[in-house]
Amino acid sequence: MERRHFFRNFALGGSLLLTAPVLFNSCSTDDDNGGDENNNNNNNNTGITVDLTSPDFANLKTVGGFAYKGDIIIIRSSETVYIALSKLCTHSQCTVTYNSSTQEIPCPCHGSKFTKEGAVVNGPATSPLKKYDVKLSGNTLTIS
Ligand code: FES
Repeated sequence: MERRHFFRNFALGGSLLLTAPVLFNSCSTDDDNGGDENNNNNNNNTGITVDLTSPDFANLKTVGGFAYKGDIIIIRSSETVYIALSKLCTHSQCTVTYNSSTQEIPCPCHGSKFTKEGAVVNGPATSPLKKYDVKLSGNTLTIS
């Protein structure tokens, strides 16, 4: 290899080594971290709001109706009372539903049933559904 080519290749390789950390760091931004924090908040189910005028929650216009938001099942149990519980059955994480005629929360997978308060009525589940606080303000529910 000629001396001239050696120095040219050496300079090109060096500049690539110097720019590589900049390129890799650009893949991680503060926005990415913010997104993770938001996801963590959703996983913790803190401060979730529900716009009751949204078509996504039309079922909540009727007493006995229910809807899902994230991992939460929201039940309208009276004109002014809404209940929020984890929608994930404590047996094997299937999504529970709500039966307004029996006022129970059945799991379609293996037959567990829960009360509106989340307590186990019959198994195989042995642990209650996690219950959240719900505040109604105008047309907005805040679940925490
Ligand atoms: S996952 Fe609900 S009863 Fe098994």
